[in-house]
Amino acid sequence: MTILVTGATGTIGSAVVDELLRAGHRVRALTRNAAAADLPDQVEVVEGDLTEPRSVEVALRGVTALHLLSATGDDHVPLATGPRLVELARQAGVRRVTVLTTGADGPVEQAVRASDLEWTILLPIDVMANALGWAESVRTGGVVREPYGGRLTASVDIADFAAVVATVLVDGGHAGKSYRVTGPEALTPADKVRAIGAAVGRELDFVELTDEQARELWRAEGWPEEGIDFMLTMWATVPPTVGVVTSVVKEVTGRSPRTFAEWAGEHARLFA
Ligand SMILES: NC(=O)c1ccc[n+]([C@@H]2O[C@H](COP(=O)([O-])OP(=O)(O)OC[C@H]3O[C@@H](n4cnc5c(N)ncnc54)[C@H](OP(=O)(O)O)[C@@H]3O)[C@@H](O)[C@H]2O)c1
Repeated sequence: MTILVTGATGTIGSAVVDELLRAGHRVRALTRNAAAADLPDQVEVVEGDLTEPRSVEVALRGVTALHLLSATGDDHVPLATGPRLVELARQAGVRRVTVLTTGADGPVEQAVRASDLEWTILLPIDVMANALGWAESVRTGGVVREPYGGRLTASVDIADFAAVVATVLVDGGHAGKSYRVTGPEALTPADKVRAIGAAVGRELDFVELTDEQARELWRAEGWPEEGIDFMLTMWATVPPTVGVVTSVVKEVTGRSPRTFAEWAGEHARLFA
């Protein structure tokens, strides 16, 4: 069984690769730039670009299970190439596919649902690792500045999300399902900052920003304009379900999802 992981060099995909390797599976990774891909030696790295389906044909050869992104770029644009990618996967002999969705019902999601593949659509509401974006500000000033401070998110540890992906791809039994994959609790950014403070042994401040203040700060940090627009629009329009905890991690993997406090403890050195 060769499993192709797209997004394998990214935050979430690299955790999927690690989880599959730990379980002893043969992993192939798709990247647009093999020379820059920093992946474990056991991984077969193949170049391809999901926006150009023909470039992915080589990577799909001999693959039976596929972890597929549904969107790319700083503004998380849905992949318009979804139907072609799904068709090429079918032709190559792929039987099982996990789709990493952003929650949008885009071309990839629609194409897998219309196919005869064993598809499972997985939405990580928000991953705890996104809090690493606060590390520098915590280290240098003991403060986190963010807009939408009242938002509650049931963030999931990428290791738990990756374990769900790996279980679904390898064991099957989840065909035709769409899962929201969350951690065990819904927290505000201020709750998370408190947990990081406890992990590093310091009291940290949380400052809520307006949209304009956030835009200025993120520009100064070098964020691309489309990434800023994406984040502000997302947090302004996000449905309350982002704060609803699900039991998917436990049901699929059999283990309880990690809390944010545990995640913060494991990553404390990055904030100290
Ligand atoms: N972070 C979250 O909380 C969250 C929540 C829900 C959904 N998502 C979705 O999950 C996906 C991955 O998130 P992440 O945080 O792991 O992102 P990330 O760290 O920024 O990594 C992005 C990955 O996408 C790959 N990629 C980008 N454009 C590509 C293209 N045209 N063809 C092939 N590969 C391409 C990159 O590979 P190379 O650069 O090596 O080619 C890289 O591996 C994103 O699509 C995001 O929308 C994220």
